[in-house]
Amino acid sequence: MRMIDQTLLPWKLKRVRFTKPEEIANAITTMVVRGAPAIGVAAAMGVALAAVGSREREVGSLMKELHRAAELLRSTRPTAVNLFWGINRVMAVAGSAHSADELRTLIVKEVKDMEDEDVEVNKKLGQVGSRLISDGDTILTQCNAGALATVGYGTAMGVIRAAAREGKLVKVLAPETRPLLQGSRLTAFELLTDGIDCTIIPDTAVGYMISIGRVDKVIVGADRITKDGYVFNKIGTYQEAVLAGRHGVPFYPAAPHSTFDLSHTHEQVKIEERPFDEVVCIRGRRIAPRGVGVANPAFDMTPPSLVSAIISDRGLVEKPIEKSIPLVIS
Ligand code: MRU
Repeated sequence: MRMIDQTLLPWKLKRVRFTKPEEIANAITTMVVRGAPAIGVAAAMGVALAAVGSREREVGSLMKELHRAAELLRSTRPTAVNLFWGINRVMAVAGSAHSADELRTLIVKEVKDMEDEDVEVNKKLGQVGSRLISDGDTILTQCNAGALATVGYGTAMGVIRAAAREGKLVKVLAPETRPLLQGSRLTAFELLTDGIDCTIIPDTAVGYMISIGRVDKVIVGADRITKDGYVFNKIGTYQEAVLAGRHGVPFYPAAPHSTFDLSHTHEQVKIEERPFDEVVCIRGRRIAPRGVGVANPAFDMTPPSLVSAIISDRGLVEKPIEKSIPLVIS
């Protein structure tokens, strides 16, 4: 399996090769690969690598190895539901095999299908969302919900790509997204590569830019949308939703069906807490006094009351969001 090392962007575009599930687990934890749909497919490929790399000839023993790999991969990051979706999908296929050889064939086919489907789903979602965009809109986003966060095309950025490909002139405001700078490193890199107008702003400028009328719509990705309509996404998304609501700007999360969690409510979701050095060090250099307390939640949650509609590949999830989710995402 080959993936772009996202920690090196925008300085270096380097693809890294992986052959073992442990390597994939490490890549997810250290954010070599990141973004909910991307880690879902990467984790599924991690399980497939365990199957292909094993010498087991007996299907029961091979399944035990896969369960171990799946457990390791599940323990990498807790918030994005796509990770669990991807692993569960390949484990179900593996469980239907009658021999070790059949299992290997089925699981490799399944991950290849998942890879192709991800791009198709994002393109569908892009078409659904582009109808909401008017020529000349400036769109505020958060983090990177683009091609890098998926297998390709992107979710929130997929909507923007679709609108741009239809000939609409769109501009994107990308907050830096401290502490790991997915906005300025990844979203800016992606949009400039595609020739889409992108302006980076400090995270602290979000409220001011909305208040002076510089934002027409907010479109963000999502890591998990629970059955009660709460949207979990990169830290900083909630403040965008509150400020958009305050100033009458529509707030749209964009997510594929694999990001919807119809089994849990928002109280049951764990928000990942990342290492403190991501906050107090910049590229290895300490920027805060030693001994200071640090909190580094990687995600926040936005209640359905602040969501104008959710853009999905299965259609638009409109208000009341909680009631529409099961009707649109079945
Ligand atoms: O911590 P990250 O970089 O994995 O967080 C990513 C996000 O929050 C994205 O907005 C989300 O996964 C949507 S990706 C299409």
